[in-house]
Amino acid sequence: MKNNRVKKRDGFSSKFGVIAAAAGSAIGLGNIWRFPYVLGNNGGAAFLIIYLIAIVGIGIPVMLSEFSIGRMTQRNAFGAFKQLKPKSAWYLVGIMGILAAFLIMSFYSTVAGWTMEYLYQAITHQFQGQDTVSLDLHFKEFIASGTMPVIWQMIFILLTSLIVVMGIKNGIEKSTKILMPMLFVIIIILVIRSITLTGAGQGLRFLFTPDFSKITPMVILEAIGQAFFSLSIGMGVLITYGSYIQKDDNLIKSAVFISLSDTLIALLSGIAIFPAVFAFGIEPNSGPGLVFITLPNLFNQMPAGYIFSIFFFILLLIAALTSSISLLEVVVAFVTEQFHWKRKPVAFVLSFVFIITGLLSTLSLGSWSHIKVFGLNFFDLFDWTSANLLLPLGGLLIVIFTGWVLNRKALQKEILNGEEKRQWLFNVFMFSVKYISPVILFIMFLFGLGLFS
Ligand code: TRP
Repeated sequence: MKNNRVKKRDGFSSKFGVIAAAAGSAIGLGNIWRFPYVLGNNGGAAFLIIYLIAIVGIGIPVMLSEFSIGRMTQRNAFGAFKQLKPKSAWYLVGIMGILAAFLIMSFYSTVAGWTMEYLYQAITHQFQGQDTVSLDLHFKEFIASGTMPVIWQMIFILLTSLIVVMGIKNGIEKSTKILMPMLFVIIIILVIRSITLTGAGQGLRFLFTPDFSKITPMVILEAIGQAFFSLSIGMGVLITYGSYIQKDDNLIKSAVFISLSDTLIALLSGIAIFPAVFAFGIEPNSGPGLVFITLPNLFNQMPAGYIFSIFFFILLLIAALTSSISLLEVVVAFVTEQFHWKRKPVAFVLSFVFIITGLLSTLSLGSWSHIKVFGLNFFDLFDWTSANLLLPLGGLLIVIFTGWVLNRKALQKEILNGEEKRQWLFNVFMFSVKYISPVILFIMFLFGLGLFS
């Protein structure tokens, strides 16, 4: 067992490796595809404010909790709870996380498949000469068309498992160090093009001028859900990653760095999308297709748009991959560590299971669109319930565990690395995980459940 873990521990070659992996998990389709569409559905600036508050007030504390639990125990989410509280039901948090991984991967791989199709369309000059109406139509026809979306989805899932099998070492670290900054630069270029379009002002107002009357419990729920989704928290992914963080690394700094980068990319993507949305006369509440309809328009309107579109979709695909490997990794880590099975067969068998569950999401936008659960097709159901119910519930249990069950001294040692001078930070953290986060998450969870009855 010990050897086993030692072997795994050199999975990350440098100190930055695991932080890079966690940032790679956080930054993904959640920032560029989901954030703008959920913000658009929830009225814009008011949502943004709640989102930012949720990141700082709940998100960072949950992330720190997950990191601490992982580093303390050196285990996956399930094993960590088993070790800390052996004769209790806390391990169910780990099980829930595994369930969430299946739900998220199901629609995540659908959208990643769209990204691959759009990369292909970008390369083959297919956006050129299309206006908003035809881009919209083409998107809708494509996602409902069955075969290609399914094929892309399978390719994406197989790619994910291939990377997980080869080990996460070099791939993620490099992609985070080099490719994420490149993604950042391309988004900045998109931002510049977008805010200089005629009519851009309306989009910026939508994004930054809050109408506080738009803050409803639903908006709060969706903002918290998006914060959880975007930070990859609430299902123990970061417990697994935390187990790889070295003892002398500063957990607070790491959590703040990851959350800041993630939020910055989401914000920039909002600033790239919304001015264009309004300038091109697209409805801000168009749903999951929002970015896929808006961006090709924008590429059509910029110098060297062809090159930028290719770069953009390649980078988005890589960002999606570094996130999806974290989703597969939670399940792989669980199965390999708890049942002592080998990584390779586990990853491949799991990828077939993921393909089957993924089909539910993809086909629910086409030939299976008549199948509804709680009035939603599978895609929307998995998207909505994972972000707005499962992750916040996981987060709720994690903060209760951290605030009320974990040994306070041991926790303080993890978070402060034995340095006394940051005591106040620890106190702020404890206040959030003991009182603020549990209360808010509990209320929101009940509210979310109520929506189904
Ligand atoms: N955070 C990722 C994104 O924004 C999605 C994701 C990856 C995720 N792993 C996760 C979400 C674990 C929740 C939990 O694209």
